[in-house]
Amino acid sequence: MSVLRTPRLSIGPKMAVFEESMAKAAGVPYGVAVSSGTAGLHLCLRALGIGEGDEVILPSFTFIAAGSAVLYQRATPVFVDIDPITLNLDPGRLEKMITPRTRAIIVVHTFGYPADLDPILEVARKHGVAVIEDACEALGAQYRGRSVGGIGDLGVFAFYPNKVITTGEGGMVVTPHSHLAEAMRALRNQGRKPADGWLEHGLLGYNYRLSEMNCALGIAQMKRLGAILEIRETLAMRYAKELQTIPEVTVPPLRIEGGRVCWFVFVVRLAAQFKRADRDSICDQLTARGIGCGRYFAPLHLQPLFAPYSNPRGDLAVTEQVADRTLALPFFNRLTNEQITEVCGSLRDAIRSVALHRADSPPRFVV
Ligand SMILES: Cc1ncc(COP(=O)(O)O)c(C=O)c1O
Repeated sequence: MSVLRTPRLSIGPKMAVFEESMAKAAGVPYGVAVSSGTAGLHLCLRALGIGEGDEVILPSFTFIAAGSAVLYQRATPVFVDIDPITLNLDPGRLEKMITPRTRAIIVVHTFGYPADLDPILEVARKHGVAVIEDACEALGAQYRGRSVGGIGDLGVFAFYPNKVITTGEGGMVVTPHSHLAEAMRALRNQGRKPADGWLEHGLLGYNYRLSEMNCALGIAQMKRLGAILEIRETLAMRYAKELQTIPEVTVPPLRIEGGRVCWFVFVVRLAAQFKRADRDSICDQLTARGIGCGRYFAPLHLQPLFAPYSNPRGDLAVTEQVADRTLALPFFNRLTNEQITEVCGSLRDAIRSVALHRADSPPRFVV
């Protein structure tokens, strides 16, 4: 309301405060507010000068935004497989993907679980490649005592309503590098460099600004971040406890040594004998009972948009196996213990029913 009473509805004091609070939370000096996480990822690549002929390494098991950003710049996405437990980019597979054309690695902290950054940074430094952390799902997560997003060259957060904090729409890039922050500030504001007037545009830019109303929401939400993370952690532990009685379900890793998980979603995995059709049937049964569930993620390399870049070096077997068997259960701050019990009971029923349905065909698993 205080913003609405001022004449500054964009590029004003709230943006500066929000940027400062996000930079501080990430442990770096610069924050650049943008209109979405996708816009932030795009600006990172633009600010690094990545373009046609350059390669960017990223996981295929992720949301489309990172892949889209690479294509916006006409660069080439190179997909790398993931670790089967953390579902994050597998550092052991990274170095063989690097060529003289590699310019950046986008590391996604998938589902809020911190990626193993140290070996990734080591490979990146050795080859002079930039590291962009896609921390859109991981605000507040920590890796070896440091906040994710602030560990690589650039980190991106997002504030769409499904995120741990929201501004309606919005994003933030954080960085320790002043020249990248300055470039992104110009690029988000129609290419106006600091000395340019309103109708002077030193660069080809975008309107990726975040309004003062959004920034005011962000400032207020950031004050609640600690409490929100705690609530979500409690919910995750509750789910994990209840799901112990369903052997066909594997829960995500609950802790990380020396760090913290940001419980953005709660994604379980069905056992290896389940196929994609089984997972889909279980999901449909839950939906029919009024229980929302998601099939995160549809691998990027299997989507038509990315077909030309499918599997250039090294296979994506873990990505493909995992993607067929994941199930995101309902997860929000006000979820009650009774609702968790109901979801787990319904999941158990759905798994049994899939098993029974298959009883007349050759047995594929034991219940
Ligand atoms: C991993 C990841 N990256 C990027 C984004 C893009 O954020 P936005 O929706 O704000 O563009 C999302 C959002 O869902 C995401 O989950």
